[in-house]
Amino acid sequence: MVGAVSIGSDSAAIVIDDLTLGYQRHPAVHHVDCRIETGSLTALIGPNGAGKTTLLRGLAGELAPFTGQITSNSAGKTAFLPQMHNIDFAIPLSVEEAVAMGLWQRIGIEKGIGKHERQMIADALQAVKLRPGDRRQLGELSGGVLQRVLFARMMLRDADVILLDEPFQSVDERTTSDLLDVVVRWHEEGKTVIVSLHDLDLVRTRFPQAMLLARELLCHGPAAKIATVANLERARGMCAGFDEKAKVCEHKSKMPGFAENPNERASGVSSPSLYGN
Ligand SMILES: Nc1ncnc2c1ncn2[C@@H]1O[C@H](COP(=O)(O)OP(=O)(O)OP(=O)(O)O)[C@@H](O)[C@H]1O
Ligand SMILES: [Mg+2]
Repeated sequence: MVGAVSIGSDSAAIVIDDLTLGYQRHPAVHHVDCRIETGSLTALIGPNGAGKTTLLRGLAGELAPFTGQITSNSAGKTAFLPQMHNIDFAIPLSVEEAVAMGLWQRIGIEKGIGKHERQMIADALQAVKLRPGDRRQLGELSGGVLQRVLFARMMLRDADVILLDEPFQSVDERTTSDLLDVVVRWHEEGKTVIVSLHDLDLVRTRFPQAMLLARELLCHGPAAKIATVANLERARGMCAGFDEKAKVCEHKSKMPGFAENPNERASGVSSPSLYGN
């Protein structure tokens, strides 16, 4: 995680403290406080424009904070799968070669791929239900197959923290189900995983934790409690009222609706502003 500070023996993989992120000096998501526990699986939800991508980009080190900081466990290597891929299809690359690139950080670009590495690549391809030795060019693939390739490449990066931005957008049910199996596998391996998505049923049934964003963190806790249509509607209303051209406010206590009384945070649900149930 670029620019993150180590938190040593803390059980959290990531601690976010009064974090404001944005573009051209205007905040897009502001004054976020939360702890992401090591090994947790969290759905990041909120309406379009709520700031999910912005927050994930901040966690990935792509955006520098306007205020606050992100503190990470020192062991934490972070892998980020963006909402929009930035693959240059003009560069000829086969499925297998693209997946093998996931090993570069681990073995270095200089070191050749040996028998052990070939097996790792084959295993990753099998985990996403693609054939080992697949020589198809990336430019020929459907969106769903390309997403399988990108997941297989993530597997080989061996990161401790995995950030996925709408990975199930425009893929069919079968692909979603296969890729969710990979997410669950990462969770079982003890990785810390944050996934942004819009499917509330999927969030309630497959994710233990959820964070609801509406330009600020509205609540963080058990997904079954948080991922409701009513909460999303209220989040949508808050996003609609957000001033795109606002200046950075100095402190979260200046935010409209901010509950300063910590007793308003209900058990199991960290609720910095609303939804204290
Ligand atoms: N590169 C950028 N430059 C300027 N503003 C941006 C940029 N990226 C996002 N924004 C703005 O930041 C705000 C939050 O956008 P963001 O993409 O983080 O939301 P989101 O929750 O990921 O939405 P979606 O569900 O549509 O993906 C929006 O007002 C958006 O217009
Ligand atoms: Mg987004």
